[in-house]
Amino acid sequence: MSAILTDQAGDLRRIVEEKRQALRQRGRQAHLRTVAVLSGKGGVGKSNVAIALSCALADQGKRIVLLDADLGMANLDILCGVSAKYNLSHLVSGSRELNEILIPLEERVALLPGGVGLREMADLDDESMERVFELLIELEERADLLIMDTGAGIHKGVLSFAQAADMALLVTTPEPTSVRDAYGVIKSLGGGAQKPGEELMLVVNMAGSREEAHEVAERIRMASMQFLGSAPAYLGYILRDDNVERSVRGRKVFYRAHPSSSAANCVRRLTGELLRLWEGRPAQHEVKGLRSFFLRLTRSFFADHRG
Ligand SMILES: Nc1ncnc2c1ncn2[C@@H]1O[C@H](COP(=O)(O)OP(=O)(O)OP(=O)(O)O)[C@@H](O)[C@H]1O
Ligand SMILES: [Mg+2]
Repeated sequence: MSAILTDQAGDLRRIVEEKRQALRQRGRQAHLRTVAVLSGKGGVGKSNVAIALSCALADQGKRIVLLDADLGMANLDILCGVSAKYNLSHLVSGSRELNEILIPLEERVALLPGGVGLREMADLDDESMERVFELLIELEERADLLIMDTGAGIHKGVLSFAQAADMALLVTTPEPTSVRDAYGVIKSLGGGAQKPGEELMLVVNMAGSREEAHEVAERIRMASMQFLGSAPAYLGYILRDDNVERSVRGRKVFYRAHPSSSAANCVRRLTGELLRLWEGRPAQHEVKGLRSFFLRLTRSFFADHRG
């Protein structure tokens, strides 16, 4: 009897291990792109940009996991009109599975609340980290893009996301304080685009006009070139549009509530630019994948803890 039980337990272990191997293998082959949305000054529209881009990219067939990586004031759930019960911290502690944490927002977009889980990941030993990776590897299967909304500021936590991600979108408004703080971020990151696949790109939000946005981007780029020797590329702009604020108040996603608004049109244009950029790139060579992303991220957090 006990021999049968032992056999069954052995079978089960084998099946679980085979499943893990298969997932690991597929995870290695999958090429999930990671995109961090950040800013120097707060309140410039990062969260709204991250959500709208996710929806617009989903409309183009991409599967998105939207990670709320604001370590201070996570609020993507509120902005999306849902309520997050669990977050990455529950995955780290082992009390919840990935499926219980992910909140489906629409067919191809799911929200992954980060909470304090991201910080906790940085403190794990190698073995526990491997366990969390295995739980997260499923993300490689279910998404083409991991879009992260970070908190504002030039602190290490935010910069770590920018450094670990395949691409960082730096959001600024035309306001002088926002422009100055955007430049501060660029400086902390050591300039702009260094090598393909590790870009820093500018998005000017709440612009009064296309011309104003271009002028702001050019000013930032010129200062970066002059003082840092390299500059972020200019991805594009989003016009100031009352529909955004109205949607936020109504806990609606402006891109869905007002799909033909001027802001939504701008987001579609940004999306087109991103897809064009990615199209020309053979993903296998340049996309680091989820595992490598989290390793870079947590190592960078570690450096911060020690330093
Ligand atoms: N294109 C826009 N046109 C008009 N208003 C906008 C636009 N984008 C954002 N806003 C306004 O700015 C506010 C802040 O936006 P959001 O919360 O996305 O910024 P954030 O950078 O994520 O802020 P935080 O730094 O606090 O996380 C929104 O509530 C909205 O009212
Ligand atoms: Mg935000």
